Amino acid sequence: MAATSCSALLLFGATGDLSRRMLLPSLYALHQDGLIDPDLRIVGTARSALDDAQFRAFASEALEEFLPGDRREEGKLASFLERLEYQTLDASKLDGFAGLAAKLGDISCGLSIFLSTAPGLFEATIEGLRSAGLATEGVRIGLEKPLGNDLASSRRINDAVAAGFDERQIFRIDHYLGKESVQNLMALRFANMLFEPLWNSANIDHVQITVSETVGLEGRKGFYDETGALRDMVQNHMLQLLALTAMEPPCDFDATSIRDEKVKLLRALRPVQAAEMVRGQYAAGAVNGERVGDYVGELGMSSETETFVAIKAHVDNWRWQGVPFYLRTGKRLAERRSEIVVQFKSVPHNIFSGRGGKLRANRLIIRLQPEEYVRLQVMAKEPGLDRGGIVLREVNLDLSLTEAFAKTRRRIAYERLLLDLIEGEQTLFVRRDEVEAQWKWVDAIRTVWAKGEQDVKHYASGSWGPNAGIALTERDGRSWHD
Ligand code: BG6
Repeated sequence: MAATSCSALLLFGATGDLSRRMLLPSLYALHQDGLIDPDLRIVGTARSALDDAQFRAFASEALEEFLPGDRREEGKLASFLERLEYQTLDASKLDGFAGLAAKLGDISCGLSIFLSTAPGLFEATIEGLRSAGLATEGVRIGLEKPLGNDLASSRRINDAVAAGFDERQIFRIDHYLGKESVQNLMALRFANMLFEPLWNSANIDHVQITVSETVGLEGRKGFYDETGALRDMVQNHMLQLLALTAMEPPCDFDATSIRDEKVKLLRALRPVQAAEMVRGQYAAGAVNGERVGDYVGELGMSSETETFVAIKAHVDNWRWQGVPFYLRTGKRLAERRSEIVVQFKSVPHNIFSGRGGKLRANRLIIRLQPEEYVRLQVMAKEPGLDRGGIVLREVNLDLSLTEAFAKTRRRIAYERLLLDLIEGEQTLFVRRDEVEAQWKWVDAIRTVWAKGEQDVKHYASGSWGPNAGIALTERDGRSWHD
């Protein structure tokens, strides 16, 4: 089909898993709701030899499988598929890029590129884009993780990208930032008077961040075994959650102010000692009532890769001195849950103690998924005449965001991120200095592991991880919120 419009979205890895599960359904949703310019062409590219019609058939099957039934609208589906085009490309070879540029034609109104590719292909792809004149001023490039596997390789990739694009054209994706519930963390902290004055070491005992999953390898054996939980989840999603929870208030809700505060926080992370972290790998067990095998069996070879990590992190700044941030993430755990728990300190003096009243310190639970709620655990007096003493009990002040916004459709993270990429809004993307601060901290952990100071502890699938992970909080007289 001849190019008829001057703006396009170019999807690398268009026949991959992310594209099928997330990108195509997200783009369809944006199209369906009239949120993207009717003239925007969507051009897929990958190694598979397909033509436009075959790519449309591929996309149609993906939508059949991954689009919720209530989002299907036959007319809109047909017009969405009409937008799609395809160009076969082996990104490791320079010579195919001229054909890609010819397919794209006029990009004078803007080109947005979404690059989800193996880390080894980043440099060649950028080189190819440059050689074909596809790295000009009006082009934006979205980069999907993994952006390298340590600080050095991430710097190499960032340098390669910077040779073709300015930082203002680069959109590093961490899909957690596209989640409504994660953005809501900022609203909770900075749109309410209630929390911020207490948000410091004078009032907070510790913070817990949990991102637990019930799934195992999900067919990503090679990738996962080379990556492990630390690099797959902590380096990016968990550290972004930590940064949003602990950063100073930005002056403005804009890309520079927010990212400036996040990077300051990430740089204040103290290197972790061997005794403050736990690596685990799942053994056989039962998840959601079903028996599942161990990691090594699923992988088909022996491996020391961690599927679980727990870390006691410290932020070395005034606000957080002495407040540990316990992080844990893992596969094949007891339930799927992402949450932040803020444990407040006890009141300075219990006036009820003479009358038998026992107090528990307040706790704020911010559940990000699968449910979305904010729960504040507060003490209340149990009704009664108190002849045998005052009975105080913890009750929940519950705010279900799912219910409060029941009429508003929740978009998946990639809808937001793709739209922001197309429109050039960088706030929810990660800046180079943030990614590098994240890698620096994670590399130091891996250096400890490399010295053999940390062996992998096995845990039963369906549990909350190895005992050592539980001990990480227990030995401080604290416990995980399970
Ligand atoms: C990805 C990881 O970045 O995030 C996966 O590579 C993980 O291993 C996924 O399963 C979790 O994302 P979500 O949105 O399901 O919490």
